[in-house]
Amino acid sequence: MKGLILSGGTGSRLRPLTYSNAKQLIPVANKPILVRVIETIRDAGITDIGIVVGSTAKQIKDVVGTGSRWGVKVTYIEQDAPLGLAHAVKISQDFLGDDRFVMFLGDNVIEGGISPLIAQFANSKWNSQIVLTRIPDPRQYGVAELGDNGRIINLVEKPQNPPSDLALVGIYMFDANVFKAVNAIKPSWRGELEITDALKWLVQNNYDVHPYIHEGWWIDTGKREDMLEANDLVLEEIDYEIAGYIDRESQVGRRVTIERGAEIINSVVRGPSIIGENARIVNSYIGPYTSIAKDVIVENSEIEHSMVLENSKIIDIGTRIQDSLIGSHVEISRSPIKPKALKLSLADYSQVGIL
Ligand code: G1P
Repeated sequence: MKGLILSGGTGSRLRPLTYSNAKQLIPVANKPILVRVIETIRDAGITDIGIVVGSTAKQIKDVVGTGSRWGVKVTYIEQDAPLGLAHAVKISQDFLGDDRFVMFLGDNVIEGGISPLIAQFANSKWNSQIVLTRIPDPRQYGVAELGDNGRIINLVEKPQNPPSDLALVGIYMFDANVFKAVNAIKPSWRGELEITDALKWLVQNNYDVHPYIHEGWWIDTGKREDMLEANDLVLEEIDYEIAGYIDRESQVGRRVTIERGAEIINSVVRGPSIIGENARIVNSYIGPYTSIAKDVIVENSEIEHSMVLENSKIIDIGTRIQDSLIGSHVEISRSPIKPKALKLSLADYSQVGIL
């Protein structure tokens, strides 16, 4: 069985972070979402993985490379334009050949434990397996309708009047019959070849599409709030480890990871949270649900329920920073130079909330 990860999207709702970083590379609990996806597929015993890339191809290749760091072999497949998930399958046919495969959206974060489901499909006779989850208002998603016997009756993409509350999660499993489907369907109203339409074609042509209802959490990380929520949930799930230095004056909670080379000096760190490699936390408070990436400096400041990406500096900020997503190489500090005023240098689409 092979893996296919779709990582072509531009992440426009996460600007300005996505001007300099592919959305799939934003770290949740200090690990890029894309790496979490690679690990999930690898844990299902799949080592041959294709990654469909678009305009952010270079950034993704720089981080993932050949995949050997994770014990997998990565093949890159270029998608010229975001023409839909079924289009991504179409252009991956040479890579996929006749193998069964799992397709994963590279920006979805799902509660652990999905790997055995993928491994199970490898040995099944089903033509496809889809992952569904109950969402009160699923109008933004593909929606499946199941019959009394639990079989799929119908599938529809972003319906105005959803036939059920069962949304399609961004994990799909197929055999080679999917190529007949993707070649038969036409683009939708949004000009994309929809994977939901390909699945509908398979169902209508009597292929065996098996629904699996996922009971745990799942986040499609489109916006800042989604990222923070994914960060909250993953921080609750990870194993905690203290590999860095904590001085005697500091208090560090139980559910905290301090990565190698990090230093906690005269500070309070409450969990769940993670402090990245070589980060320095000095005279500061790091509250629950915070991810501080590597090489970040926090001095004389307070921050909680936030994500701070690598190499940023937060220095002498008396007001607590909360619910924030701070990119890499950002500096937030007091300015001693008169006049006493906010002095900002913000990228396009930045958002600042001032007291
Ligand atoms: C895509 C699929 C949709 C699915 C969703 C999951 O939507 O078309 O069926 O429910 O991913 O994240 P899109 O992200 O293209 O709006």
